[in-house]
Amino acid sequence: MKVIKLLEKKKIFRAAEMLFKAKDAIVLTGAGVSTESGIPDFRGDGGIWEKYKPEIYGNIQAFIKNPAKFWELAEKVAPTLFKAKPNAGHIALAELEKMDIIKAIITQNIDELHQKAGAVIVYEVHGNINRFTCLGCKASYTKEQVLKKLKKEKNYPPLCDVCTAPLKPSVTLFGEALPTFEIYQSQALSQKADVMLIAGSSLEVAPVSNLPLYTLREGGKLIIVNDQPTYLDEKAEVVIHHKTGTVLPLIVEEVKKLKARKDSKN
Ligand SMILES: NC(=O)c1ccc[n+]([C@@H]2O[C@H](COP(=O)([O-])OP(=O)(O)OC[C@H]3O[C@@H](n4cnc5c(N)ncnc54)[C@H](O)[C@@H]3O)[C@@H](O)[C@H]2O)c1
Ligand SMILES: [Zn+2]
Repeated sequence: MKVIKLLEKKKIFRAAEMLFKAKDAIVLTGAGVSTESGIPDFRGDGGIWEKYKPEIYGNIQAFIKNPAKFWELAEKVAPTLFKAKPNAGHIALAELEKMDIIKAIITQNIDELHQKAGAVIVYEVHGNINRFTCLGCKASYTKEQVLKKLKKEKNYPPLCDVCTAPLKPSVTLFGEALPTFEIYQSQALSQKADVMLIAGSSLEVAPVSNLPLYTLREGGKLIIVNDQPTYLDEKAEVVIHHKTGTVLPLIVEEVKKLKARKDSKN
């Protein structure tokens, strides 16, 4: 706990206690949990939006107009995404799931690092980079199939074998609807949650940024771990402005101590 101030320590104890006592705790994560794995976020310092404007690259209308341009960026970003490894924050959250302290992780990330860290119950509300969908007939393709096509066709965008429309990664772009099952499930889980731990999200992208409101409305409590303030800081029970890769493992350490204490009494 060397790098963490005394005040932060108290907050970490409090967060651990809340999670330990909760019956239906869940986690909501954003791009911030993956920056320590080398994947830049959108709104933190040095976010990729400084280099690649969302209105050109991350928007469905722009994709439809010029899919080749999107694929040129995808080619630059994909290697970082594919080779990234989970960091201490992802591992800590997977441990909370294994200990049955949390019921699920809702993530805005498309990098699969929660699953790579061992988490199983993960709802990807903005999709996933390992699948691709045809814009025309909605046929679905795996990453391997698309890589094979790109190698063979040597042309952007890769085209659907069935209808020849462009293929798009199954990630939600600005202006697109969110995956129905994942968002409904996330709303239901948020409503039921007595504690929601929010980690590494600016809470600026709707509708995901509204999920904590479902929790608050039903009397649930929020824990926020983010290195910058969010619009919900004043409504949260615990706010820790620090790195998720440092704080989340410390919370897990405290949860383990609480668990050991309880087990020794039984
Ligand atoms: N890894 C990924 O999959 C990835 C990467 C970039 C963007 N996105 C997409 O970004 C969109 C934006 O929403 P968002 O809220 O997820 O991201 P965001 O970029 O809006 O916010 C990230 C927040 O995390 C904070 N942060 C960065 N590194 C941190 C760290 N190590 N510890 C604590 N806080 C840290 C930043 O200050 C910022 O407030 C989402 O739609 C998501 O799909 C995903
Ligand atoms: Zn098609």
